Amino acid sequence: MNIGTFADLPICTLILYFCEMNSKSIVKELCTQAVESVFNIQLSQIEIQPTKDEFEGDYTLVVFPLVKELKRKPEEIAEKIGNYLLDKEEITKFNVVKGFLNLSLRDEIFVQTLKTHFSDKNYGFSTEKKSKIMVEYASPNTNKPLHLGHIRNILLGFSISNILKAAGNEVVMAQIVNDRGIHICKSMRAWQKFGNGETPESLHVKGDHLVGKYYVLFDKEYQKQMADLAASGMEKDEAKKKAPILLEAQEMLKKWEGGDEEIRSLWAKMNSWVYAGFDETYENLGVHFDVVQYESNTYLLGKNIVEDGRKKGVLFQKEDGSVWADLTEEGLDQKLLLRSDGTSVYMTQDLGTAVERVQKYDLNELIYTVGNEQDYHFQVLFLVLKKLGYAWADKLHHLSYGMVDLPDGKMKSREGTVVDADDLMQEMVATAIEISKDLGKLDGYTDEEKANINKIIGLGALKYYILKVDPKKRILFNPKESIDFNGNTGPFVQYTYARIQSILRKAGNEIHQFENKELNPAEKKLIILLSSFSEIIEKSAATLNPALTANYVYDVVKAFNYFYQNYSILNADSESEKQSRLALAQWTANVVENALKLLGIGAPERM
Ligand code: ARG
Repeated sequence: MNIGTFADLPICTLILYFCEMNSKSIVKELCTQAVESVFNIQLSQIEIQPTKDEFEGDYTLVVFPLVKELKRKPEEIAEKIGNYLLDKEEITKFNVVKGFLNLSLRDEIFVQTLKTHFSDKNYGFSTEKKSKIMVEYASPNTNKPLHLGHIRNILLGFSISNILKAAGNEVVMAQIVNDRGIHICKSMRAWQKFGNGETPESLHVKGDHLVGKYYVLFDKEYQKQMADLAASGMEKDEAKKKAPILLEAQEMLKKWEGGDEEIRSLWAKMNSWVYAGFDETYENLGVHFDVVQYESNTYLLGKNIVEDGRKKGVLFQKEDGSVWADLTEEGLDQKLLLRSDGTSVYMTQDLGTAVERVQKYDLNELIYTVGNEQDYHFQVLFLVLKKLGYAWADKLHHLSYGMVDLPDGKMKSREGTVVDADDLMQEMVATAIEISKDLGKLDGYTDEEKANINKIIGLGALKYYILKVDPKKRILFNPKESIDFNGNTGPFVQYTYARIQSILRKAGNEIHQFENKELNPAEKKLIILLSSFSEIIEKSAATLNPALTANYVYDVVKAFNYFYQNYSILNADSESEKQSRLALAQWTANVVENALKLLGIGAPERM
């Protein structure tokens, strides 16, 4: 139940935040003025932080960076600025701790900040778009189902898209499906050999799982054939290349490239099974795409560009006719771009696809969400595009992320080594169901409502656990820990939100007004945090890091819980105090709900 107006607005309206002054920007402005007046210098960069808990104050000016320029002791500089600022009506007092100037603001400043943020229905909605950005994510191969690694990819790509939108950009969410190549032919060949006409319908299984099953069967047969060949005296390396089933798959790929009707139709059929399966998984995860590209349409792109680059002398040709980029001066090696027979490689088509995307969608930026095992690939891709003279090559980014592992012995998938995405989601929801049953808070809800809430909790746990970690870092995913109702977890954040909703229900679901009043420390801390939401979104967007948003929402719920535990909301001393605290609770719920929404996580009304 949203009583506030804020939570009902689309993500893009959050842009408003960036046009508004808030308590922090006011302090920044005042400090800049002060430095100018007292020392007669102009500063471009000035650092303001929320004051640390152990000191008195609301915001802190870090003075150290000024020392060199002003050639005075940090304490002296801080003291002078502090005294100057005391004349300003916004500032009530200050203290100096070494190179830190801690400033206290009048309570009204905080309240005013939040009131302007939350009372204006249009939120200063701006139609101006900063930048048009494509975010590529997911981009699976079609020979097997999605796994835990894809889940991290998908969550990162989807949430960074939301965050970039909230920061005022236009975003195109794109997926490029690798639907062609030897890996797909392997699944196809095994199905032809062992499938007996099985289909997803006949077996009642998801199509991607069926195709994955044959990818595994291919490998089993391949191993067996290699062992047989080795037993009959063939060298291992030779057997690797000569196993009949591999030759058959390679033959299939040739036929595919030649447009063989039977092979093309088998390929189309099995890929359609996979797509239906992927779509189900995406829907379950709550993500979507604006554009889906297929490698079968893009794999020939890039040849012209490479040809042009060779003519211009940016790329070079070897004696056998192959074309290369020489990146040794840049500290990398030589990179093959066209084989001697004129066929292209992975890099060639990424060159072509980048050029096509930027032109077709008129992009200012392009972000590739791809695991860190491809760091080198993207380094080379961006460099070669730059060498080829594309000025926008500087606007390409690789949102690189680390592996996700499960603790040993947990949930090995039917394919053996990786954790299947569908199985994991199901397991998470099953755990949520059990926990909810134990807590008994959903008693009296219909089965459908229960199922809905448990899904929000189970998937929220998974999503939050993965998104709270810096993308660069490796994750050990611990399902049990992720769904703990205490600690830095999705369910803890969701639980706080549900608790606020329960308070608001008890108060009768009205819109509450914050009366001008003296703030207690817990309220002040909460308000300072809430008013930095915009800054967090902007930082998350600039660093392509949803973890900043996730950890921010955790700080917000911690601050709310502290406030709630120490000051009564519904039994406040006066009606006006009660209304103000309810308004604060409402603001908190709005920020929490929106921050979760940016992460693709739901906020349940009750749990
Ligand atoms: N399909 C590839 C894989 O599964 C990832 C594609 C990444 N995107 C790109 N434009 N190269 O490894």
